[in-house]
Amino acid sequence: MKFEIKVENVKESRISQFDPENIGFGKIFTDHMFVADFKNGEWTDLRIVPYGPFSLSPATSAIHYGQAIFEGLKAFARAESETEITLFRPSENAKRFNRSATRMAMPEVPEALFLQALNELLDLDRGWVPRTPGGALYIRPYMFATDDFIGVKPSENYRFAIFCCPVGPYYNKALRVKVEEDYSRAAPGGVGFTKCAGNYGAALYPTALAQKEGYDQILWTDPIEHKFVEETGTTNFFAVFDNEIVTPSLTQTLLAGITRDSVITALKHLGYSLTERPLTVKELIDRHAEIKELFITGTAATLINLDGFGFRGTYYSVYDETKIDASQEVKKFLETLKLGRVSDPFNWVEIL
Ligand code: COI
Repeated sequence: MKFEIKVENVKESRISQFDPENIGFGKIFTDHMFVADFKNGEWTDLRIVPYGPFSLSPATSAIHYGQAIFEGLKAFARAESETEITLFRPSENAKRFNRSATRMAMPEVPEALFLQALNELLDLDRGWVPRTPGGALYIRPYMFATDDFIGVKPSENYRFAIFCCPVGPYYNKALRVKVEEDYSRAAPGGVGFTKCAGNYGAALYPTALAQKEGYDQILWTDPIEHKFVEETGTTNFFAVFDNEIVTPSLTQTLLAGITRDSVITALKHLGYSLTERPLTVKELIDRHAEIKELFITGTAATLINLDGFGFRGTYYSVYDETKIDASQEVKKFLETLKLGRVSDPFNWVEIL
């Protein structure tokens, strides 16, 4: 099914103001955005319009009660092509968006609409995809409740929008993480597995406290005993021991990263032995000498090594360039795949 999307082009593109050598992360936005409104039980007024602010009622319910979800994915400049771009597993984002929507009592966006909106927007703004090494176009689909009503109930009206920003690396060094034992990111039965706005807002305070102690990010532990490692900041966590790679198995309190899933599949494809299982902080400490590397994965962050982790005042250093192996091999594999440079054994890459 093809949806009818109205297009209003910008009068003048802002692309000449964009310096691809100096991008940063998330501060520059492309010319256009996609917007749709959910009214009377259906998605209406599908449109691509110039990027710009929304006008909202002060009573907009998302602002008060947090019915807001988002996704993140990237488009890449296809190697050896002046114009073609690639998208990495966009259907997975559409599916996860709808899992988040269901949990937050929000309407689903049909996967076909999500993908068509994405493709039409990218087609229009493809010139913004950086062709500089390490650059990508970060795409942010999101939905929020728009009823102007302050009773607590699921909103009847919603806005779904997508905007894009050219980005460079999110992090540019190995990170120091603090094992968090006082605060929790998520609880069983809660919303930790969704990409709802509140999960990120609630992490800011404990993260700021850890940063005051000299850390970059938090290594979240389970909310019941604070014994099991869960995830790191906005990323999933991997430990490479001498003879096995371990990543915490998915639970209700972990975000099922699409990069996580891709890294697991790619590592196995490259011949590494990888186990998804519960991983305790105690195991990381007891087997500290056997750790070759720790790394984290996410769409924005891609794959970043950890310098080490802090636990109850002791810092366990891990990063040793001579031992880095699995992370760099899988990173390179996925990077070349995303740029359309190698054949794609998993059918993950879409060319536009
Ligand atoms: C992503 O990797 O897309 C994320 O969700 C991180 C984002 C909050 C910057």
